[in-house]
Amino acid sequence: MPVRLTEKSRVVVELPMMMFLRLADGDGKMTAREMERFDELLTSRSWCHSSLLQRSLANTEAEKAELWKQYTAGELRAGIDQVAASLDTILGSLAPEERPDVEHDLVQFSREILKAARAGAGLFHGDSEAKATFDTLLDLIKRPSARAAVQVKAKSAVETKPAALNLCSLLVGDLSAEMFCRPGKLPVRCVQVIDETHDVKTFRLVADPPKLFRYYPGQFVTLEVPIDSNIVRRSYTISATPSRPHAISVTVKRVDQGQISNWLHDNLRAGSTLFLDGPHGTFTCIPDDAGPYLFISGGSGITPVMAMSRWLCDTTPEADIQFLHFARSPDDLIFAHELQLMERNLPGFHCQFVCSQVGEGSGWTGPTGRISPELLTKLVPDLKSRSVYLCGPLPFMDAARGMLEQLGFDMTRFHQEVFGGVPRRDSSAAEAQASKLAKIIFSASKIEIDCKGSDYILDLALDRGLPVAYSCRAGQCGTCKVTLLEGSVEQDCTNALTPDDEKEGHILACQARPIGRVVVDL
Ligand SMILES: Cc1cc2nc3c(=O)[nH]c(=O)nc-3n(C[C@H](O)[C@H](O)[C@H](O)COP(=O)(O)OP(=O)(O)OC[C@H]3O[C@@H](n4cnc5c(N)ncnc54)[C@H](O)[C@@H]3O)c2cc1C
Ligand code: FES
Repeated sequence: MPVRLTEKSRVVVELPMMMFLRLADGDGKMTAREMERFDELLTSRSWCHSSLLQRSLANTEAEKAELWKQYTAGELRAGIDQVAASLDTILGSLAPEERPDVEHDLVQFSREILKAARAGAGLFHGDSEAKATFDTLLDLIKRPSARAAVQVKAKSAVETKPAALNLCSLLVGDLSAEMFCRPGKLPVRCVQVIDETHDVKTFRLVADPPKLFRYYPGQFVTLEVPIDSNIVRRSYTISATPSRPHAISVTVKRVDQGQISNWLHDNLRAGSTLFLDGPHGTFTCIPDDAGPYLFISGGSGITPVMAMSRWLCDTTPEADIQFLHFARSPDDLIFAHELQLMERNLPGFHCQFVCSQVGEGSGWTGPTGRISPELLTKLVPDLKSRSVYLCGPLPFMDAARGMLEQLGFDMTRFHQEVFGGVPRRDSSAAEAQASKLAKIIFSASKIEIDCKGSDYILDLALDRGLPVAYSCRAGQCGTCKVTLLEGSVEQDCTNALTPDDEKEGHILACQARPIGRVVVDL
């Protein structure tokens, strides 16, 4: 009678074969010769130290005839999602102190397979492919989040149907209001993912059902991402141009330990659907369409000025634009080719890239260093005659703004967008309130908290697990707007509030500290 294996025992038997198939059997037609090579790997296991993997390899050897049968019958697959799930079953069941040894041996096993692949060139699939698969396996062994991401991706692949959107319907008939997206929440479908650099991807999105997008170049949308059983929101500039209204795009840089940027990179792909809210924001060149312009950006802060450049190039080919972009290294330059093409095609468009870290042999001949008043005036001698649009990491923006002031730039022609990320608050103002007692009542959740006048409403709400939306934490995006029902608050920054918001009692939870007793609609 066949023995009914537990999930873990079954995985212990199958995992080595799955890893072998993943790395060495690119064409899905494993030959008897390849199977022999696998046999050798199972028996010569002097490299293997953990008892679990020793047992696993021994079991696989004992079961190899059965595994082979399953493989030829198409019952044993080694899809990356199955390998991720099997690794999760094994590594997740281990005590923390056992895990490093098993991880080490799994990496070693992958190396042994790769070595065998190299030795048997011609029998295994190409080296570069095998190396890429090896790197993916390594990531899966070491990072539980990578395993989870692969599994979620596979699940959404099953759940999302391929796009069958008839965008062409928007090209015929009379233009009507129904053909345009209304501001607010909107279902969208990802139609393409573009690798811009090693850590930046562009996601092209169409409305689902198809509609035309209307927004100002430089505005942003807030993406709603389902994680566990919560919806997490983050804002991203629309990097596309409204002059091409059938699709929009967002261009996202991976942030170290960042929840949503990494989720998007790991999970969002052509066919996936999600909701967004927008468009929002006032950072746009539209009311100032006379120019001349100076666009200054650092890192992923390039997105809004790219959107403005694309718009101006499509609609105002004679526009006078100086585009300055600061990046860490030549490998970090985003949209470089497109910008160079724009420069070639448009007489008034000039772009210059500056890199702060240039390795030897990189071939970089452009300017290097960090932003400085000298560099700014050297690169754009007529900067004082321009309207400046600035976006980038906070320290970069603080520095650039200070330099413009120092150079005597007329700050009425200065515009900036803050991406935020890390809370940006007035710590001295908060400290002054630290000794004052306050009480906050979240009316919808019926939660009362005794707190201090230095506590921020967003932090208090998040601490209590309330699903409050936020993005920049710097008072810039408005995602955290809530209604103050009673009492008053002190806010460090209210840039994201319009006069109407203020009249209607909206406050920014990320910036607001309670004065005495306050009631908030949350
Ligand atoms: C208007 C607007 C437009 C934007 N446009 C873009 C764009 O075009 N492209 C783009 O890539 N990004 C853009 N952003 C930034 C984007 O919204 C996210 O902030 C970014 O992707 C990081 O989100 P995350 O969930 O990955 O990181 P999070 O999980 O929010 O963390 C961000 C970083 O902050 C740190 N951090 C978080 N909370 C704290 C804390 N309490 N104390 C200290 N450190 C903390 C984390 O460790 C991490 O390093 C925009 C933001 C705004 C407001
Ligand atoms: S989170 Fe952006 S304004 Fe509060």
